[in-house]
Amino acid sequence: QLTADIQNYHFNHILLNAAGVMCQTSTELDAVLASEYTGAVVTKSATPLVRPGNPAPRYYELNNGLGTINSMGLPNEGFDYYMNYVSAKETYKPIFFSIAGLSKQENITMLHQLQDADFDGLIELNLSCPNVPGKPQTGYDFEATEQILTEAFAFFKKPLGVKLPPYFDIVHFDDIAAILNKFPLAFVNTINSIGNGLVIDQTTDTVVIKPKAGFGGIGGTLVKATALANVRALRDRLNTNIKIIGTGGVTTGRDVYDHILCGADLVEVGSQLAIEGITVFERLEKELTEILTKKGYHSLDDVRGQLKII
Ligand code: DHB
Repeated sequence: QLTADIQNYHFNHILLNAAGVMCQTSTELDAVLASEYTGAVVTKSATPLVRPGNPAPRYYELNNGLGTINSMGLPNEGFDYYMNYVSAKETYKPIFFSIAGLSKQENITMLHQLQDADFDGLIELNLSCPNVPGKPQTGYDFEATEQILTEAFAFFKKPLGVKLPPYFDIVHFDDIAAILNKFPLAFVNTINSIGNGLVIDQTTDTVVIKPKAGFGGIGGTLVKATALANVRALRDRLNTNIKIIGTGGVTTGRDVYDHILCGADLVEVGSQLAIEGITVFERLEKELTEILTKKGYHSLDDVRGQLKII
């Protein structure tokens, strides 16, 4: 009964990986699909051609489980690799095919390929990668966001959603929601990492990752409050037929519960999946079930969006 639906896609569990974690190779994707406790898998954001990504070190875990910083730089096997993977895969679990072109044209080209392919999953257009030098996040450019969605929905008929960066101002929640509501989006996924944080190694006084002089996307516990605010703010503003994937700061069942309270339909795990591995899904689902049982709830529908204000 821990289930969710997006359009005609049914999810028997609400947890899955966040794009970028455990999803670059077919072995990793298979591992997420094989878990009894995942409802779906999302593929590493693809670019048209294979990319090695940024130089290492490009991922770092802060002490005490505070979170992570990364500047991977979109290492991926290239669009065709993921297309071949999803085409050959036989699974009842929905697959999210994530794309992150380095230009509008690259994204439109990949969307045409997805439209013309037999792929029958969902598509996540990533507008929020902070880690490619010289490429600003489209999600912070409202005009560019509206433009790419206008061009995409002129031909794209499959279930499409967007991965958004975190917003920090009420006006920005209002503005992005007004744009998104103009389109027949299947879902929005909020949040990507908080972009361009900086972490310092205290013994050596140096940055902890090499790309972009140490600047990178922040994930994990540090971003939970921002993630919940974005889920809540967008659920309040978006058409009800646009579902919400809550991502950010999930390390416990309580964190999953909080995302659902704020209105999330599905919940993704990024940093904690990288830290803990595939067994994180079993632990989180069991912790969530305990909370629901203790509170006397039988279905997530009793909880979803039911955050109380005083
Ligand atoms: C990368 C990071 C992101 O947050 C994202 O959305 C896409 C790619 C990366 O650095 O690889």
